[in-house]
Amino acid sequence: MKIFTTRATLSGYLTEQKSLRKIIGLVPTMGALHAGHLSLIEQAHKESDVVVCSIFVNPTQFNDPGDLAKYPRPIESDIKKLENSECDVLFMPSVSEMYSEGEEWNISLNGLDSILEGKIRPGHYQGVTQIVKKLFDTVMPDKAFFGQKDYQQVQVIAELVRQYQIPVQLITCPIVREADGLAMSSRNVHLSAAEHQQALVLSRALNLAQQLFPVKTIPEVKDEISRFVKQTDGVELEYFEICDGKTLQPVTDKDDEPLVALIAAKVGGIRLIDNVILE
Ligand code: PAF
Repeated sequence: MKIFTTRATLSGYLTEQKSLRKIIGLVPTMGALHAGHLSLIEQAHKESDVVVCSIFVNPTQFNDPGDLAKYPRPIESDIKKLENSECDVLFMPSVSEMYSEGEEWNISLNGLDSILEGKIRPGHYQGVTQIVKKLFDTVMPDKAFFGQKDYQQVQVIAELVRQYQIPVQLITCPIVREADGLAMSSRNVHLSAAEHQQALVLSRALNLAQQLFPVKTIPEVKDEISRFVKQTDGVELEYFEICDGKTLQPVTDKDDEPLVALIAAKVGGIRLIDNVILE
């Protein structure tokens, strides 16, 4: 696996690969790699010739400096995981490599950045689009792979690609779960064993929502799920919403398919999110 830390050297190498007509697949990450990330690498390997994984803990997408400071950065073990995977290129730039002093970024995201996660984490999706645009400009991938777990992020990036007419195919890969159902997340390492058990309420709530969906109205499903989550000690529900799968606007009518159920909760102070497409 080749490792690059500057945009110029990475882009020089990839220009050579493109001249050989190689298909470039990008898997952007913030490191602390788990099986979910590795499944994206695996999918990228199936669909491209050169798999590039980026590891960059992007400061502009954190609105809480404490959250940024405690974000896990196990770089040595991440490199080992990538070396044992189908990753061909690792890009791990410094902050100053990606940002210049006082840089500003603001795009209109059609309201996608002010609801759900965007409402709780103001500015988060501006930061995400800012760094993803820079990564796309540097790597110029044919395909980019993102996890469905960050469902709203996928819709936001699709909007970025649409607005800037970026010639990249976005591929959304299924959520990878622990055996007990907890969606894989870099934040899971912060959960104690007891909190991990409490966190299972998120995936259980989504399973229940899937069962209720065909037989109840949307407001009834939302009420039942809120009650279900709130009865678990140690879990603070932030939202459970049933939304249009593209605009992410909450819906009350089942005709608006495809629909997605999204949940966010704090468990022991750790924010967790999960979602399911409602069939
Ligand atoms: O999903 C993530 O890990 C990040 O938001 C991303 C897409 C790598 C941008 O920093």
